Amino acid sequence: MVLLDDEFRARLSATAIATEACLDAVLTDVPAEGEIARPGRLVEAMRYAALGGGKRLRPFLASETARLFGSEETGALRIGAAIECLHCYSLVHDDLPAMDDDDLRRGKPTLHRAFDEATAILAGDALQTLAFDLMADPATHADPLVRAELVLGLARASGLGGMAGGQMLDLQAEAETPDEASIRRLQAMKTGALIRLSCEAGAILGRASPEDRARIRRFGEIIGLAFQLADDILDETATAEALGKATGKDSSRGKGTLVGLHGVARARAMLDDLVAEAEALLAPYGARAKTLAAAARFVADREA
Ligand code: IPE
Ligand code: IPE
Ligand code: MG
Ligand code: MG
Ligand code: MG
Repeated sequence: MVLLDDEFRARLSATAIATEACLDAVLTDVPAEGEIARPGRLVEAMRYAALGGGKRLRPFLASETARLFGSEETGALRIGAAIECLHCYSLVHDDLPAMDDDDLRRGKPTLHRAFDEATAILAGDALQTLAFDLMADPATHADPLVRAELVLGLARASGLGGMAGGQMLDLQAEAETPDEASIRRLQAMKTGALIRLSCEAGAILGRASPEDRARIRRFGEIIGLAFQLADDILDETATAEALGKATGKDSSRGKGTLVGLHGVARARAMLDDLVAEAEALLAPYGARAKTLAAAARFVADREA
């Protein structure tokens, strides 16, 4: 168990370092082919939002599932960096005064605090399009059909019926008292969809069989739900110092969460059930999926 944990942490940290290097290399003021110019202030804001922080769990999931299905590493790394850009954009916009109105993110002032609101909106916009740029670039995969499938997957995970839609439901839920099914649905959308796509991307890259792809998609769905459940428990139980973001926000803003509905103890029991379900889904892959199984445990047990 200790060894497995060590291996998991080593891989998570290696993916974080490689993702950071990939993002550092693409977030420059040198225009790409077809671009006109890259304003220095926007590059600086995007670098502020995307570099030097975060657990990089989504890139890790993309790399590990790609490895499970025998895909080469460079493509998975670029896919992970693309998903991370999309995720960082979602955090920048989530923190805006019109949304969760937060001042602290990843242990630093939020982007609109460090820069200004308009710059934060634009940096989010440009991080979002950069995500699609990275996925669609031929350097990611030689086969255009694979790239198109990834781009479609990212669009569906992050747009109207995915993350952005989930954020809409999350804000609407502040004024309502959603039931459990509504909370699960909004969380599957705002957080789960991108985590599920992170897992499925590895299966797409590795051209996994439809059966494997469905299994890994379900795994992603489960840990996506577990991830937001853990985030909501931490919001209630952890300190801002440990998390690098404000805590106690969900209850003060009246967010629709399972913690709010059932309390921390029941939420933790639900989390354990989700981890057990995620682990069971990986059973057919045996030892090859042990770091992915460790990731499921990490999602639930993490302290930040
Ligand atoms: C926070 O995501 C926002 C949610 C979707 C709950 P993470 O906890 O992955 O944030 P970072 O990337 O590690 O900062
Ligand atoms: C955010 O959920 C989900 C996103 C799509 C960014 P939260 O609002 O709970 O995330 P934190 O707690 O601010 O990181
Ligand atoms: Mg939010
Ligand atoms: Mg928030
Ligand atoms: Mg939260």
